[in-house]
Amino acid sequence: MENAGIDLFEAMSTLSSVRRLRQDPIPDDVLRRILTAATWAPSGGNRQGWRFMVVKDPQTKRRLRDLYLPHWTAYESAHRPTLATLPEPERSRMTRNYDTARHLAERIHEAPVIVVVCVHLPDLAITDAKLDRPSVVGGGSIYPAVQNLLLACRAFGLGATLTTLLCMSEPKVRELLAIPGDWATAAYVPIGYPEGRGHGPLSRKPVEKVTFRDRWDTPLF
Ligand SMILES: Cc1cc2nc3c(=O)[nH]c(=O)nc-3n(C[C@H](O)[C@H](O)[C@H](O)COP(=O)(O)O)c2cc1C
Repeated sequence: MENAGIDLFEAMSTLSSVRRLRQDPIPDDVLRRILTAATWAPSGGNRQGWRFMVVKDPQTKRRLRDLYLPHWTAYESAHRPTLATLPEPERSRMTRNYDTARHLAERIHEAPVIVVVCVHLPDLAITDAKLDRPSVVGGGSIYPAVQNLLLACRAFGLGATLTTLLCMSEPKVRELLAIPGDWATAAYVPIGYPEGRGHGPLSRKPVEKVTFRDRWDTPLF
């Protein structure tokens, strides 16, 4: 078993998406450790309405790729042209992101595993369901598990990306993977050892810009 020891803040601050993956298999004991970490996440009422479908079968992965690629292509066609309006170095950084995202979209089936994260809809504690806006709370019972999975991957030197474009094709995936009707697909996480440097520094807004004291727009720091 590889050593998974890494400082938590080091792991969080370098947890970038890794979209260029080697095909080398992930040892079963490592797979078990990262999936166990996912199950340590909190969920509303501790209902733990999650299932992690580890797709390894080459044909099934290729079918997922065939379903995923058109979604990426549509997204890219709609958004890549807007990159031209960005100032440097943001434009170069985003262009690289789009390049790697296309790389992943074309080769997602080459990742040794794609973890399809499913959530049991009746178990969701959707406290904002009746508000006159899109609900966001339900996802809080599944995405912490995905983040734990990603952090555990980071600890083992595995690259991964949280992807959701394929959620648009849920009915087809449901059929492909025999997912029961009251379970939804929340994320597709291709995982593998990075082709290159892998994880790296993040591009995020500074904490001063996103934290307030007592009232909206009163800076905390
Ligand atoms: C809810 C969510 C959905 C995402 N869906 C996709 C996706 O479908 N495909 C993809 O390549 N990346 C996807 N991403 C990855 C984001 O593009 C990425 O996290 C973001 O650009 C920041 O880059 P970084 O993770 O490298 O720091 C998603 C991330 C989140 C949080």
